[in-house]
Amino acid sequence: MSIKKLDFARPFFEDVEFVENEAAYFVEPKSIVINLAYKTHGVIDIEGLPLEPLKAAILQGVVINDVERALVFRNYDRYDVTCPETAALIEKTWKSLYEWSGQEHQKGIPYHKTEKIALTEDTSVTVCYAAPMSPSGPHKTHAKDVNEVHIQLQGMGKVQLFREKEEETFYREFMLAPGSAHDRIYGENGEYPWHQYCSVTACIYVPVEIER
Ligand SMILES: [Fe+2]
Repeated sequence: MSIKKLDFARPFFEDVEFVENEAAYFVEPKSIVINLAYKTHGVIDIEGLPLEPLKAAILQGVVINDVERALVFRNYDRYDVTCPETAALIEKTWKSLYEWSGQEHQKGIPYHKTEKIALTEDTSVTVCYAAPMSPSGPHKTHAKDVNEVHIQLQGMGKVQLFREKEEETFYREFMLAPGSAHDRIYGENGEYPWHQYCSVTACIYVPVEIER
């Protein structure tokens, strides 16, 4: 049983908690709760309704039960990323993809993110900002063999699937609003179609990576 405060997404998300093995947890302020009990298929109970693994919910003033692993962004809407002043401040505060990776092909991509932190031995997260209408670039492999899902915190975004690397081979997309997570986009053996995250408005999302 533990509730751990995390400061990796400050100053924009001051109040993030990682909750493990709590029979009952009170969500007091308006929060986005992400169920990370993926490997055990642990369902969180919200007043008799289920929150499935790798799905999220916007909650306030409610006790949730049977929490095996959850990441909670308390007061997730305290700052509004769709306000240009806030977006400019995030761009100044969090390093860009290129600043993190040093990879030439990421130069100029208007994405900024926090450090990646390990929540458990197999699960890590970042918080990522994207400027409006910005594709992140189609890819089908990741640095590690991971199950990947994106959960939206603010603004609107989408995850798009492609038959080939070229954007004209697009065939499917999942729209993401605050509190939503897309369905699984990897196969049984961890194979992915070409895919990318693409912002619609200025937005903030959480890429979750679970090692296979
Ligand atoms: Fe990906």
